[in-house]
Amino acid sequence: MTESQSPRSPQTQVEAASKAFEQEFERFVRFTGPSDVYQSLALEGAEAELRALTDLRTRHLGKKSDLSSSKKSIGQLAPEDRAAFGQLVQSVEAKIVSSIEHAERTLLDYIQAARVERDSIDVTLPGRRPRRGHLHPITLLRERIEDIFVGLGYAIEDDREIETDFYNFDALNIPANHPARGVQDTFYTTDGFALRSQTSTVQIHAMQRRGAPVRMIAPGRVFRRDTPDPTHNPMFFQVEGLCVDRGITMAHLKGTVAEFLRRMFGPKTVTRFRPSYFPFTEPSAEFDFSCFKCGGSGCRICKNSGWIELGGSGMVHPNVLRTAGVDPKEFSGFAFGLGIDRMVALMYNLDDIRLLFENDVRFLEQFE
Ligand code: FA5
Repeated sequence: MTESQSPRSPQTQVEAASKAFEQEFERFVRFTGPSDVYQSLALEGAEAELRALTDLRTRHLGKKSDLSSSKKSIGQLAPEDRAAFGQLVQSVEAKIVSSIEHAERTLLDYIQAARVERDSIDVTLPGRRPRRGHLHPITLLRERIEDIFVGLGYAIEDDREIETDFYNFDALNIPANHPARGVQDTFYTTDGFALRSQTSTVQIHAMQRRGAPVRMIAPGRVFRRDTPDPTHNPMFFQVEGLCVDRGITMAHLKGTVAEFLRRMFGPKTVTRFRPSYFPFTEPSAEFDFSCFKCGGSGCRICKNSGWIELGGSGMVHPNVLRTAGVDPKEFSGFAFGLGIDRMVALMYNLDDIRLLFENDVRFLEQFE
């Protein structure tokens, strides 16, 4: 057997294992020296290096490592050489362990610091301001109206938008053959319920719920099969008002509406009533107020008439009181109803109420 073919001695195997480790460990040496050498390493890079270091440990210290198998060849040595061999193995092993641990500690510290930095929030950075919304112009006006009537001692009622024929028509004294009942004027669900065509339905609910005396306003959505145009929408908002008590007269109606309009548009506002007809009030009147823009002298808003139409009103019909369970011999009352959408259009100088429901933020932003 030649020298080159002879099996390597255990000492040579250990020295070879040590050398092989040193070669592989070279790329990790930077983690045992000054930190500026690896400071540019990204978190993911450092984590990959840590995994590679763990593999290195298995390869050089694990059960199948060269160092491990060289330990087993101690039996080939003369007894007097074994102590020195043991020391050699130990010192190589200790060197590998300490090199790996050193690099590992450095990497772990570095990774931890990098994670803290990644997860930390810099409170000194300017914040991103969320876009603030605001109330729709119809809601703004509705709230103003509510404030005024609450100040006059009225309660606010909210009620259903889908009604039976009884509440939408019968209880409001609307005759069976009235055109408003037709599908040309009113929306019906497939089950035959009506989408309420006016907030006057709440008069009945309120009287049934509260009895008399009662003082309430009911703002809400109503629906009519009107073809959309600059002053009509198939869905719009009304505010209903109802006051029932002993001895209520038309004078109370006029006084209340006039006071409401003065608080809304200023102390100089003048109100006028014109005779009209509604099945649920008798007598009935429509009311106008002097133009808030020109004060009555005539302008574009009031179409040079000096007056702006606001809504309908009247003394609650005895049939309506009776149907709602209120005795018309003891109680009388007035009611009124006004459309909010057209009022918003007038106040903000809009020439088309359809703009209010097109949901164009550029339009709606103007009402902040
Ligand atoms: C009524 O609806 C009655 N309920 C008012 C009333 C209540 C009278 C209590 C007596 C006692 P009228 O149909 O006129 O009345 O409608 C009232 C308001 O709703 C109108 O002045 C108008 O401002 C508004 N309005 C009516 N139709 C539309 C529509 N298609 N789009 C927008 N606003 C409308």
